[in-house]
Amino acid sequence: NNHLVIMAGGVGSRFWPMSTQECPKQFIDVLGVGKSLLQLTMDRFKDICAPENVWIVTNKKYLDKCHEQLPEVPLKNILLEPCRRNTAPCIAYVSWKIKSVDPKANIVVSPSDHIVTDTAEFARVVKSCMKFTGETDSIVTLGMKPSRPETGYGYIQADLSVHSSRNKEIFRVDSFREKPDLNTAELYIRKNNYFWNAGIFIWNVSTIVNAFRVYQPSMAKLFESMLSIYGTPQEQEVIDKYYCECDNISVDYAIMEKAEEIFVCPANFGWSDLGTWGSLLMQNRKDLYGNSVIGDNVSLFDTHNTIVHALKEKKVVIQGLDGYIVAEDDGKLLICKLSEEQRIKQFAEDQEK
Ligand code: GDD
Ligand code: MG
Repeated sequence: NNHLVIMAGGVGSRFWPMSTQECPKQFIDVLGVGKSLLQLTMDRFKDICAPENVWIVTNKKYLDKCHEQLPEVPLKNILLEPCRRNTAPCIAYVSWKIKSVDPKANIVVSPSDHIVTDTAEFARVVKSCMKFTGETDSIVTLGMKPSRPETGYGYIQADLSVHSSRNKEIFRVDSFREKPDLNTAELYIRKNNYFWNAGIFIWNVSTIVNAFRVYQPSMAKLFESMLSIYGTPQEQEVIDKYYCECDNISVDYAIMEKAEEIFVCPANFGWSDLGTWGSLLMQNRKDLYGNSVIGDNVSLFDTHNTIVHALKEKKVVIQGLDGYIVAEDDGKLLICKLSEEQRIKQFAEDQEK
């Protein structure tokens, strides 16, 4: 059976002050379309996976938000982390949990905070990859054509000379490199066989469980030892007691950079990781001067390439800015150069301490 895992435990700190610890961006209607990023994510998979096979992994404090926003997902499928340990422990936990109910599960893992514009093509690609992982023990990633030397993404070096004999769209991966430095990213984007990792992973449950056994044996040991208690009241007790002892590491470093049998499906479905204010500026409609404004009461003078996010009722007047972020939310105001936006994560962490 097809299963969908939505990772919804991040805090989206580079989107501060709109995204906060209390309400991270995946629960917010960032695009102003009447649905949160989490709800849009669920919609994207509606033809791929039934709601009873959808799993959400999130922090304990977001249980109510997840349940309110996605009432069709059974409560028992919302897995609760007592602390943030990044995506490797999150994926390990849910993989063993799924294994306990469906040892033949075929799984797609998705972030909760991305946007996809061509949802039909997206569904076609994911289905094609799931057919592949239903037949082979492989890890499949989705590769996006890079358009800039972004250092916030993982890069996939593909061997484009031979496609898989089972699926013409799928190629073997030579190497996977998570978040390279700028010089390296610049080298990569000059070649035609490097792709951005979209952060979406497709595999069958035994493939990923075995990968954890090989590359992250201590995590594997913990979740394996819980096999007899998944679905019982003891599960949460043990998670609360031991989950925080897992290494704080993303699946990209923990598994993808190490694993050998990885494949990539280069694809094009209008993907964007709404990771930063700048990415929203690229995504949103801009005025003649390259500004993007959210808020009903904003007046701009001699202002260019600036993103303004203000609450509806807030009156904002700006003169003479070029290349800035001005974001106001709930009594917090951020004014930051767009070129320095990666620092917002640190600013947010300092503020919310
Ligand atoms: N449950 C849970 N617990 N979810 C988490 C946690 C956690 O501790 N940390 C992050 N997540 C969720 C986030 O909410 C997001 O949906 C997803 O996992 C990915 O985490 P990010 O923190 O956004 O990762 P990233 O953007 O820095 O990097 C990843 O995505 C890039 C593409 O967007 C990597 O996979 C890169 O290789 C990739 O290019
Ligand atoms: Mg991200």
